[in-house]
Formats: sequence, C-alpha cells, structure tokens
Amino acid sequence: MIREQMEQSLAVPAQAPTRERYVLHRAAASPSNSFADDVRRGLTARPKFLLPHYFYDALGSALFSAICELPEYYVTRAEDEILLSRAAEIAAAFGPRVRLVELGSGSARKTRHLIDAILARQASLDFLPVDVDAGILASSGHDLLNDYPRLSISAICGDFRNPATLLRPYLPPSDARTIVLFLGSSIGNLDPAAAGAMLSNLRTALAPGDALFLGADLRKSPSILEPAYDDALGVTAAFNLNLLGRINRELGGTFDLSAFAHRAYYNESEGRIEMHLVSREGQRVLIDGYEISFDEGESIHTENSYKYDDASLHALAEAGGFTIEQRWSDSNGYFADLLMVAE
Ligand code: SAH
Ligand code: TRP
Repeated sequence: MIREQMEQSLAVPAQAPTRERYVLHRAAASPSNSFADDVRRGLTARPKFLLPHYFYDALGSALFSAICELPEYYVTRAEDEILLSRAAEIAAAFGPRVRLVELGSGSARKTRHLIDAILARQASLDFLPVDVDAGILASSGHDLLNDYPRLSISAICGDFRNPATLLRPYLPPSDARTIVLFLGSSIGNLDPAAAGAMLSNLRTALAPGDALFLGADLRKSPSILEPAYDDALGVTAAFNLNLLGRINRELGGTFDLSAFAHRAYYNESEGRIEMHLVSREGQRVLIDGYEISFDEGESIHTENSYKYDDASLHALAEAGGFTIEQRWSDSNGYFADLLMVAE
C-alpha cells in the first residue's frame, strides 16, 4: 500500500481512478543532503551552533516521544487538553469541507482529536503531513490509515522552513478549505524574524480564507519553563546529546558524549529557552578529516524555544499576512492554539 514517489514523477495523472490511500513524496532538496555542510558551518562559527532539525533521526524522534511523556514537559499535555476538549468547536471553526496539512507532524498523536472531529462533519479527509524524518512519517501514516478508513495521506518528507515551495506541488486547486496545522510550539524554535518570514512564505501557497492553526507556548515563570527543558530523568539531555551521536554515526565524528553537558535556561530578555551543549574540558574532536577544538566551558548553541504573549502573537500574524480569528487555551493558561486566517 505504501508507494514512494519522487518529485519528478508528478507527470503521473493526479486523479487516478483508484486512488492510493498513502503516498510518500520526498522533496528534492532534502535537508539531510547538507548535514555535513551545516555541521561544518556551525562548528566553525563563533559562537558554535547546530541546526535543530537535525535532532530528529530515528533515535531523536523516539527520544522526543519520551519527552512528551515527561511530567516536567507540560507542553504536550496542555495542547492535548485543548485539542481534546475543544475539538468539536475547532472543527466547526474550520468549516464544512477541509483538507489538512500538518508541518512537523511527528507522531501526529494530538492531531487525532482534530481528525476525529473533522470526520464527524465530512465523509472523507485528505491529510498532508510534512516532516524531515521519513521514518516517523511512515509509522504515523501506517497507524493513521489503520485507524481511519476514510483518511487519505500524502506524506511529504522535507524541510518546512520554506513551506510554499514544499507544499505548492501537492496542493492542487480544491473546493476544500486548506487548514495548515503547526502544533507543539515548533514555531518557537524559529527566531521571531524567521517565524514571520516562514508564515509570510506559507501565505503565498494559500488562498484568502485558508487558515493556519498554530500552537504557541506562552510566557510563564522560569520555575515551570526550565524543568520542561531540563528534566530529572535526563531524557532532554539525551535528546540534545544525540546530535553529537548523530555526527559520530553519520559523519564519522569522534565526540565523547560524556565530555559534554546539557544546559537549558530561560533568557528572560529574549523570551526564550536556550539549549546548549557545554564542553566539560578543553578538547579536540575529529569530523570527517577536519578538527574542531573546544575550550573548557565553551558551548554549542543547539536550539531556542521562544515563548509568546498576545502582543508577539499579533505581530507574528501580521508579519505573515494572517488575521487571528480565534484563540483557545488550556486550563492552566500555559499554551494557546490560534486560528489565523489568510488575508
Ligand atoms: N507536532 C508534533 C511533533 C513536534 S516535534 C507535536 O506537536 O508533538 C517537531 C517535529 O517536526 C519532529 O517530528 C521533527 O522531525 C519535525 N521537524 C523539525 N524541524 C523540521 C524542519 N525544519 N522541517 C520539517 N520537519 C521538521
Ligand atoms: N518544539 C519543542 C519545544 O520547543 C521542541 C523541544 C522540546 C525541544 N524539548 C526540547 C528541542 C529539547 C530541543 C531540546 O518545546
């Protein structure tokens, strides 16, 4: 049932008489092509950095699933509460006939609440999950097809940071309203300028009236924020350190993972959690024939997670060419999901 299709084979008629229920498209410029280049660029920069979408290989996606179960990581529970308790209302706001795109879909577990509510209102649903990890697209797609006989999936493996280029070939004109989900505070992993640019790029692939359904984590006390990114069990530390493990596995790196420490703290003036890997000692590491040296205490900046408030959410919507139409929050007021309509 699972058929892989390269971008070039788009000449195949889109409306074959018996439609496959699952197609996987691999975007031509897969970010994995440039892993070696991006690592070299990041580790020779001052300060050193690595790009966060490389967290998500098979082990990284498994560790992220474990993060979602942690008592300290309130993000998944808060958004799950919103999507479960308000699903009917949200589906009604989407309207009578929709197709669903999801950027960074991962396991798509929370998405099920929305799929349930949409399929209570329409006979069938086209779902277009986008993820950089092909493995998680295959496993989540398999599970969804088993559980939802009225669902068809066009999975897209690629980088969502230029969503219009990625999506345009797979969004033929349709009577259905296109709803783009971007859940789990993934927007927070982009700095505000890049987030605005991404939304404005996405807007060009949509028609007026289509909508973005965006999950944003809200500003709150560092005593709640910091443990969510530095848990007692050490799963987030493992998730962060796996980036170095991936460099060892895929690029022949010689990182000693025990010689780096996970650090996460709230940067109040920037309104963001910062994640770092800090060298415990002066050391040299070989990667594919070149050498990188670290001072004791030197850090690699691996990720930011920006926290939003109403003002920054309005600025984001405006930068992207969207109008915030509705806003839902969890009972603790930790997280918000917003329906942003394309102008
Ligand atoms: N939506 C899920 C998963 C969030 S984790 C949730 O809310 O729990 C982020 C997901 O986005 C991962 O599955 C990761 O592989 C994917 N991802 C991260 N950066 C990406 C990028 N630049 N392009 C495409 N997918 C990306
Ligand atoms: N989008 C998630 C967030 O910002 C990603 C995430 C959760 C994450 N925990 C992490 C990324 C730890 C890096 C390290 O909440």
